[in-house]
Amino acid sequence: MKQTITRTTAFLASCTFLITACSGNTGTKTSTNNNGTNTATTTSSTTGISGPIPIGIAFAQTSNVALLGQEGVAGAKIAEKYFNDKGGVNGTPIKLVFQDAGGDEAGAINAFQTLINKDKVVGIVGPTLSQQAFSAAPIAERAKVPAIGASTTAKGVPEIGDYIARVSAPVSVVAPNSVKAALKQNPNIKKVAVFYAQNDAFNKSETEIFQKTVKEQGLELVTVQKFQTTDTDFQAQATNALNLKPDLIIISGLAADGGNLVRQLRELGYKGAIIGGNGLNTSNVLSVCKAFCDGLMIAQAYSPEHPGEINAVFRKAYLDQYKKEPPQFSAQAFAAVQVYVEALKSLDQKTKVNTIPVDKLRTELNKQILTGKYNTPLGEISFSPEGEIVQKDFYVAQIKMEKDGSTGKFAFIK
Ligand code: ALA
Repeated sequence: MKQTITRTTAFLASCTFLITACSGNTGTKTSTNNNGTNTATTTSSTTGISGPIPIGIAFAQTSNVALLGQEGVAGAKIAEKYFNDKGGVNGTPIKLVFQDAGGDEAGAINAFQTLINKDKVVGIVGPTLSQQAFSAAPIAERAKVPAIGASTTAKGVPEIGDYIARVSAPVSVVAPNSVKAALKQNPNIKKVAVFYAQNDAFNKSETEIFQKTVKEQGLELVTVQKFQTTDTDFQAQATNALNLKPDLIIISGLAADGGNLVRQLRELGYKGAIIGGNGLNTSNVLSVCKAFCDGLMIAQAYSPEHPGEINAVFRKAYLDQYKKEPPQFSAQAFAAVQVYVEALKSLDQKTKVNTIPVDKLRTELNKQILTGKYNTPLGEISFSPEGEIVQKDFYVAQIKMEKDGSTGKFAFIK
């Protein structure tokens, strides 16, 4: 991993942030893939790809955001092996090229620049955060390189441009499900306190949906408390909210801050229901709130029990490797890689993709992505003309902690 990060930095040092500045980069290059093996690819803007087809993965592998990003990496790697074992793109393997997007905008921009200009990928999966997408995705748009979000859920991400799509269902579709599930479990809920991280685009977007749902459900929104994704101490906001005696608390944050807030609310004696948003949707939150995670409800755009062969294969591969059920972000990353593979296969049946210059291939691929239907672990998905995912099935899970106070699981609510 270090090697990859060093390459990124070295490349950027010799290359300005203008996307055109490095686009003349042609010829044979040697890249180190995630397994540490060297794979030679000859790719240029004007000739076709020779060798494996490079697809870029720009997830957070470092920083606090890696709590989410590493689940994406896991899902993408399972997809790479699965589809290559099945013959890749009509006999040509794919090769995932990982560039660490880190936790901020600069990291995502660096990763996108490198994947586009140096690694010459046909398309990108990522970045991890919507906050990063609003800065990095316009780079893919301007370079006419498809970028599929696999965890970005804020309003407005697919609308960034024609080349920007996502397989991660938006907050407007996912978030209301958890409020409805909490009410079903406890019809006496009346007063709701909402918390959100105000320095993050996704959390600002998600809290709007939560607050709207609270009002639509006839509940009383007693307070809206703000924090930062970098915060660790929530005593002031938690005390303010608890003084108003809420029966339900809804948190839009990321895993580390959100998990800490859950813990501190419980430590202050709060016994009511808690809903976490999509940024807390990782078992990595368990190590943050530990026993206090118990009961936390989180809406899901994926269920490990989704019927169908592709999910069975994905679930088994994940279970075998990680000894736990696959999380949503891994399933979404798998689905994003699958979209690329299947769209490339469809294109390849018309014109061999390795005969198409990479610039043209990226444009053709983008069109193909948006017209296809894909039977993924998330169920059957397709895209709206804007690149928004069209998906049928959604779920809500509740964390059940074991007596040891450190292990637990997401139990799906029927
Ligand atoms: N769903 C979160 C985001 O969009 C991770 O930033």
